[in-house]
Amino acid sequence: MKKILILSLLMLAGCQNNTSLYTPAEEKLLEKYGVLSEAENNCDNPDTVKIMLKKGFKKKNLKQYCGLVTKSGDGLNEMIDAGLSKKEIKEYQSLSYFHADKIDRYLKYETSTIKEKVKEVNMDLDLKPYSVTHFYDEDSDLTMLINKYNSLPEGYIPSDLVDVNYVCEQGVDYSCSTMDKMQLRKTAAEAYEKFVEAGHKKDINMVAIATYRSYDYQSNLYNYYKAEKGEEYADTYYARPGQSEHNSGLAVDITFNGYNYNEIEEKEGYDWILKNMHKYGFILRYPEDKTKMTLYGYESWHLRYVGVELATKLYKDNITLDEYYGMK
Ligand code: DAL
Ligand code: ZN
Repeated sequence: MKKILILSLLMLAGCQNNTSLYTPAEEKLLEKYGVLSEAENNCDNPDTVKIMLKKGFKKKNLKQYCGLVTKSGDGLNEMIDAGLSKKEIKEYQSLSYFHADKIDRYLKYETSTIKEKVKEVNMDLDLKPYSVTHFYDEDSDLTMLINKYNSLPEGYIPSDLVDVNYVCEQGVDYSCSTMDKMQLRKTAAEAYEKFVEAGHKKDINMVAIATYRSYDYQSNLYNYYKAEKGEEYADTYYARPGQSEHNSGLAVDITFNGYNYNEIEEKEGYDWILKNMHKYGFILRYPEDKTKMTLYGYESWHLRYVGVELATKLYKDNITLDEYYGMK
């Protein structure tokens, strides 16, 4: 009889252990908050409660914790406190490029959808251009983002510049570069030449009117337009030194068949250029319908080398390089 009693007590104890949702330490904390019973008996997601016990548990948010699944709990209190619905919180959390440390900025930034909000804040579009600048190391890769928030270091010179074939003729082609040499980084130069040669088969004779520009050259260019036409104009059409893709040796401004570079989008043959450049690793960097993402005016002539894989992805997804990094 005594044996049976001990056995049933042991079974009961074992049973209690199996059904307990929380560790003794967690139970103690929940008890301290006065919500143990609710957390035990009325909670669909005790794992969220467990996570939040380590991440700034708030008694008033228990109901929401219980209704939500979360991986890390980061940003969850902020989203609940901001009055976001379960659906909205789920949407934020489902984005692979949601960075919880930016939650305050996401919540403050006004735009159409949560997806856009997260992407655009990741791109720093909630901050005034030039108010923050991330600087690259000198040896950054061929896909690097250079824009009004991401800059090459002062005086940067790519280490693998080579002369490029298929360039404009000074005095013949409109707006042909006045630089002594027309150069690009080696991989970009080779890709450019292959692209031009593919164009020849379609009677499209492309030439480069601008390639690599030094930091000082860009500085003079920007300052010239700033003095001539004002800062707003200069910032719409010219990058500040260090923030030009031409400083990276990965950008090329083109024209074809003798047309003025700023009219090529109206000419027959341009469509082929648009539809084929990704096959050689190039993207149209400043499209007409993406000025809010690039913060530059439309440039039908400015191509940027990023490699075939990324160029193909950006072309197919119809996104700019800035947006790609915003969704990483
Ligand atoms: N025109 C482009 C934005 C540049 O100056 O790099
Ligand atoms: Zn350009």
